[in-house]
Amino acid sequence: MTPREGHTLMSTRTTRTTVVLAGLALALTSAACTAERTENDPAQTTGGATGEVVEEGGLVGIAMPTRSLERWNNDGAHLEELLQERGYETSLQYADNEVDQQITQIQNMINQGADILVIASIDGTALGPVLDQADAAGATVIAYDRLINGSEHVDYYATFDNYEVGKLQGEFIVEQLGLEDGEEGPFNLEPFAGSPDDNNALFFFSGAWDVLNPYIESGTIVVPSGKAPASNEEWTSIGIQSWSSQTAQSEMENRLNSFYADDEVDVVLSPNDSLALGIEQALDANGYTPGENWPIITGQDADLANVKNMLAGMQSMTVWKDTRALGDQVATMIDQITAGEEVEVNDTETYDNGVTVVPAFLLPPQVVTPDTVESALVESEFYTADEIGL
Ligand code: BGC
Repeated sequence: MTPREGHTLMSTRTTRTTVVLAGLALALTSAACTAERTENDPAQTTGGATGEVVEEGGLVGIAMPTRSLERWNNDGAHLEELLQERGYETSLQYADNEVDQQITQIQNMINQGADILVIASIDGTALGPVLDQADAAGATVIAYDRLINGSEHVDYYATFDNYEVGKLQGEFIVEQLGLEDGEEGPFNLEPFAGSPDDNNALFFFSGAWDVLNPYIESGTIVVPSGKAPASNEEWTSIGIQSWSSQTAQSEMENRLNSFYADDEVDVVLSPNDSLALGIEQALDANGYTPGENWPIITGQDADLANVKNMLAGMQSMTVWKDTRALGDQVATMIDQITAGEEVEVNDTETYDNGVTVVPAFLLPPQVVTPDTVESALVESEFYTADEIGL
C-alpha cells in the first residue's frame, strides 16, 4: 500500500452556509451550479460542545446503508448528535440495503438543499447519476467508510485503513497458529469475504490474503473446500452478498457438511462480525465446542453479540473500528469545508475510484481479543461492563 503521511489538500470548494428555506436554497444552488462555488457568507452562531462561536453549517444529509447491522446505527446516531451539537441541521436516512432506496433518499436530501452529503454507500458503483445531481446542486460529497466508485463527484473519503483491517486478521491467524515459530501444519482454513458490491471488501480480503497466501502456497495452510481465490482479484468468488449472517451460516454449513466429514476446521477467516456470527452458529450446530475444538475465527466491528461470543470462547478476535472517531473526523471535515478551510487528509494515493483518486483520511483499526475486551471496549466507554456481561 502507499505511504500515508500528513498530506493536506485545499478544499476546492466552499459551501453555502445557511439553509432556512428549502426554496431559497434551491434557487441559490441552481444559480451556483455552472461554476465552482466560491461564495461563503457564513452566518455566525453559537454552538458546539464548548459553546464557541462556529459558522452555521447548513443542512448535512447522512445516508446510511441499513439499520440491520449494529455498527451503522451507532455511526448514524453519533454523527447526527455531533453535527447537531455543532449547529448543523441533519437529515439521517437508512436504506434497508436497497440501492434504489438509498438513491431516492440522496435525491431528497439534494432537493431539501443539503450542502454536504455524507454517504455510506450500499453499492459503491451505483451512485454516479445521483452524484451528478449533487454536484449540479453544489453539494460537497464525503464518502463515509466505503468508497464510492465511478464518479468524479466524490470530494473526500473518511474511513479506517481497510487494508490494515485485513492485514491484522491475517497476522492474528499467523500468530495464533505459531507459523512464524515453525509450526508446519497443515492447518485447515476456510476463508470468507465481504459483499461483492462493497469496495472495502476487496481491501479487507487483500490485506488478509497477502499475509496468508504464502502459507497456502507452501502447503502449511490448506483449504479443504477448495474455496481459496487464486488471487486477490478473485475475492468475489467467496464474497457474501450484503454481508448477510444467514448466507454466511448456510455457506459454512455447506462447507462443513461437504468437506469435513472426517476432518475439523482449524481457522476461519471472516472479514467482519456479521459473517462471523453466522459462521459461529454453523459451527455450534455442527458440534464444535468452545475451549475444545472451536476454530480460530476472526471478525471486525466489535458488535455487541460478537463481543459476547468472544467472551464465551466462540470468536478469537475482532478488529475494532471506533466509529466515534470516524464521526469526529467527518465532523471536522464538515467544519473545514463549511469554513472554506483546508480539509485535512492523510492519504492522496490509495483510493482511486476509477475516475479520480479521492483524498482520504484513514483512521487506525485495532485488534481486540477476549483478553483486551475490558481495556479496549469498556475503559473507552464503547460498551458498559453490564452490556457485555462483565
Ligand atoms: C464496513 C464494515 C462492516 C461491513 C458490513 C463495511 O463496509 O467497513 O465495518 O462490517 O461494511 O456492514
